[in-house]
Formats: sequence, C-alpha cells, structure tokens
Amino acid sequence: MSSRRPIRPGIHTRGATEPEADALSPDLLREAFSRWASGVTVVAVRDEPHVAAITATAFTPVSIEPPLVLVCIGVNASVLPLLEPGARFAISILSEKQRRLASIFADTGPLGREYLERDGEPLVIGAPVGFACTVRDVHDGGDHSIVVARIDRLVLGDDAPPLLYCGREYRRLQ
Ligand SMILES: Cc1cc2nc3c(=O)[nH]c(=O)nc-3n(C[C@H](O)[C@H](O)[C@H](O)COP(=O)(O)O)c2cc1C
Repeated sequence: MSSRRPIRPGIHTRGATEPEADALSPDLLREAFSRWASGVTVVAVRDEPHVAAITATAFTPVSIEPPLVLVCIGVNASVLPLLEPGARFAISILSEKQRRLASIFADTGPLGREYLERDGEPLVIGAPVGFACTVRDVHDGGDHSIVVARIDRLVLGDDAPPLLYCGREYRRLQ
C-alpha cells in the first residue's frame, strides 16, 4: 500500500502527482497563497508617543451583528504586542491611489506617520474605509496571530477603487 498522502482530501495540484504532506515547503505555500487576491489595509495602534503601523492583506470581514473583523498579524510584527484584548486600534482599507502608503507601512520604522490621523484612532487620512476597533480575542494561528476585533466606529470616505494585491504585486481593479 502506498504511503503517499494527499495534502488534504479533495485538493490536488495541477499535474499527475500530488505533493506529499512533507512537501508542503514554505516556498510552495507562499506560491499558493500568493495566488489569493485581496485588498490592502493598514493596521495601526498607538503606543504613546509613537504609533506602530503595518500593511496587512490578511483582513477579513467577519460579522455584521455584532460588527466584527479579523486580521492575521505575524508573531514578530511590531503591532502585535500592542493588540491585546481591550486594545483600541485602527484598520484602514487603502485605495488604488494609496499604493505608496502600502510600501511605506510595510517597512519597519517610523515613516509615514504623517498619513495617519493625529487624534483618536490612527486611521489613514483619505482612506475609503476606516474602522476604529477594539481587540476582542487573539487566537493562535501558527506563525501569525488571528486578531478578532469589534468595530466601534466606521469612517466611510470617498468610494474610490480599492488597492489590490495578488501575485506579489499591487494591482488595480479591471
Ligand atoms: C503586501 C503586503 C501584505 C502584508 N500583509 C501582512 C499581514 O496581513 N499581516 C502581517 O502581520 N504582516 C503583513 N505584511 C508585513 C508587514 O506589513 C510588515 O512588513 C512586517 O510586519 C514588518 O514590519 P514591522 O517590523 O513594523 O512589524 C505585509 C506586507 C506586505 C508588503
């Protein structure tokens, strides 16, 4: 009997062979995950007198009632220690015109803070959507933590087309 196991029942690669579970290398997974298209957000949290902020594509709307979203945050990300249950923070959805901000906030360091609201939650100024949130739960997610947050306040800006990310590139709709 063969000892080969599919990665998951019902999930197949395109060729005749299926990688064994052991063949789920980080590179293979990165390639698979890179084919997922998403929007782009900035997750920012005050750490007075500073603000920690990162670019994050692992954002998902979760619930209308109660209003919940989630974002997956890398275990080494600067913002993660600040996102304990009860912490207030901001998630901003970027428009296609804010592509440069996605690069700025993906960098480690303090650049780009002038693009965030100075008072209240550090939302990205001019973003099509801003969520002021409170962390509800933080779940283990392997090399990321899954942060489930309640939306306290919603800021709807211009209905500008969203910035997209797919295939390791920023893209526009169409
Ligand atoms: C397009 C893109 C999407 C990203 N998505 C996430 C994400 O969903 N979650 C996350 O923790 N980091 C994500 N990152 C990485 C962070 O933006 C950031 O680079 C990383 O946390 C290092 O910065 P830091 O030292 O300030 O934490 C993404 C980076 C890029 C360029």
